[in-house]
Amino acid sequence: MLNVANVDLHYGAAQALRGVSLRAAAGRVTCVMGRNGVGKTSLMRAIAGQQPISGGAIEWRGRDISALRPYDRARAGIAVVPQGREIFPQLTVEENLMTGYAPLKRADRYVPDAVYDLFPVLKDMLRRRGGDLSGGQQQQLAIGRALVTRPKLLVLDEPTEGIQPSIIKDIGRAIVFLRRQGEMAIILVEQYFDFARDLADDFLVMDRGEVVISGTRETMDEAAVRARIAV
Ligand SMILES: Nc1ncnc2c1ncn2[C@@H]1O[C@H](COP(=O)(O)OP(=O)(O)OP(=O)(O)O)[C@@H](O)[C@H]1O
Ligand SMILES: [Mg+2]
Repeated sequence: MLNVANVDLHYGAAQALRGVSLRAAAGRVTCVMGRNGVGKTSLMRAIAGQQPISGGAIEWRGRDISALRPYDRARAGIAVVPQGREIFPQLTVEENLMTGYAPLKRADRYVPDAVYDLFPVLKDMLRRRGGDLSGGQQQQLAIGRALVTRPKLLVLDEPTEGIQPSIIKDIGRAIVFLRRQGEMAIILVEQYFDFARDLADDFLVMDRGEVVISGTRETMDEAAVRARIAV
């Protein structure tokens, strides 16, 4: 469904992505691994349209979306849970969820039950300000907000970063549930190796803006991957 082909990305004169290719398919989790600063978030920004690419192409459901703006990509079914969550601290939980309505038709502007089934804490805290939630709760809110848009591609950028183990488990369960529905392609950026290995159907490891290892769960050389992502 998503085909990122040979993508380059620059920040001014600095090149952050060099010929990066990635595919993501419905019902599968594609895991992007790599150390700090190797270009993982830049790749997600390229997919979301938040940073223009300087080479290659991004195809989504058979159509070249390289020049589409982020808003139009959201309307085409691409949702991002950004690194650091970026929830709105002054808005309530409910209002944060409602920001996900923006790309939706009027009739679809409600929070699907699955959001509260996956993260019951959100239902309990609907009137609470986003900024008053714990980091883990904010992460659940950020995922919930993305799910409100009914994505066909869900991009999660380091969802376990700084999160306590019990909530990491909840997030893992949510990803497994969404994969099992079979309708959504999921891209998971992750530095926490065990979490990534347990969830990844396909994976790639980046280093200095390039893909250095890629494959499927079955073919993963765990030692080689660990060596590449160890600090
Ligand atoms: N807005 C920007 N302007 C200039 N350089 C940037 C910008 N954003 C990122 N970079 C640089 O691009 C490179 C890749 O950064 P990126 O954020 O994609 O890495 P990352 O793999 O997501 O790292 P982390 O694991 O720390 O989140 C880094 O060298 C970074 O300093
Ligand atoms: Mg990053």
